[in-house]
Amino acid sequence: MSPAASPAELALPILDEALAERLRARMALVEEALFTHASSRAPYVTEAARHLLAAGGKRFRPLLVLLAAEAGPRPDADEVLTAASVVEITHVGSLYHDDVMDEAALRRGEDSANARYDNLVAILTGDWLFAKSSELTSQLGPDAVRIQAETFTRLVEGQILETVTPGPGEDALAHHLEVVAGKTGSLIATSARYGALFSGASAEIVTALTEYGELVGTAFQLSDDILDIASESDESGKTPGTDLKEGVPTLPVLIARASTDPDDARLQELLDPERSDLAGDAELHAEALDLLRKHPAMGEAKAYVLARAQEAKKLLEVLPHSSVRTALEAFADIVADRST
Ligand code: IPE
Ligand code: IPE
Ligand code: MG
Ligand code: MG
Repeated sequence: MSPAASPAELALPILDEALAERLRARMALVEEALFTHASSRAPYVTEAARHLLAAGGKRFRPLLVLLAAEAGPRPDADEVLTAASVVEITHVGSLYHDDVMDEAALRRGEDSANARYDNLVAILTGDWLFAKSSELTSQLGPDAVRIQAETFTRLVEGQILETVTPGPGEDALAHHLEVVAGKTGSLIATSARYGALFSGASAEIVTALTEYGELVGTAFQLSDDILDIASESDESGKTPGTDLKEGVPTLPVLIARASTDPDDARLQELLDPERSDLAGDAELHAEALDLLRKHPAMGEAKAYVLARAQEAKKLLEVLPHSSVRTALEAFADIVADRST
């Protein structure tokens, strides 16, 4: 699916046509609501806030809200739609900030906000979107506000921890997995949680879907990182190799760094956390990317992601066999085995 796919197209194959049609109709309502919410009395703010919304994106998080809501007795409750807007607006706000952190020039196939405007505009527009999502969450009651605040705390902590190198006594992989769960798992967990909660699902289902979302979200980020290394072109709507350039450690890099194979000496040298010249040297960057792509660490990282998706699917056993459960299983599969 292209990063700027039509919202009428679901980012997930759904075999049950009636379910697919319901989700498409509700996604269209969410789509409209997103643009209504991203409107300010200052036209300049509206333009900046709508920039990445208009660029598209997969809309995975609101889709997960709607899908999880199908597990409860009131999938079409108004609160479900509001929650779907909340998670996408929070996500988009985090992308404005993330592209500043990562000095990314491309997002959703368009110029990132920092490239199109500047860092200041990108940061403040991200803040504005976070404020909007909080405003919207307040319509959902105090529990939703608390959940949103806790989610946001974890997301930002994840982003901050990513910039901190683990100490000598700390396990680099455990640190990385905490970063990933925080920056991405948290909001995807909340997407599933909100859907189940606002459609009136049982406490048992809400808990299982929250844990499912956390695992799926973690797998999603890890497979996105693999894609950042593996993709040859800008099919993802982003610039491949960005993590390596920015010195952001990812699962394949951590696995390759831990290798004791003497044949890996050159790659180890290039991946040394102390060096920072890959950003400025295109040749070294290309060499590192090439060696990493061929390294068994890529396969090991993929196997790890697939195992997380399997665990996530296991949690769905609380649901009766149904097209909703099948779709949630497909969601975990697609996330773990992404090509875009
Ligand atoms: C990008 O998220 C940031 C990550 C967590 C990897 P998405 O891959 O969901 O981005 P969009 O919304 O489709 O652009
Ligand atoms: C994005 O992380 C996480 C958040 C936006 C919170 P990345 O930096 O790994 O994602 P991409 O590759 O830019 O989408
Ligand atoms: Mg980034
Ligand atoms: Mg980042």
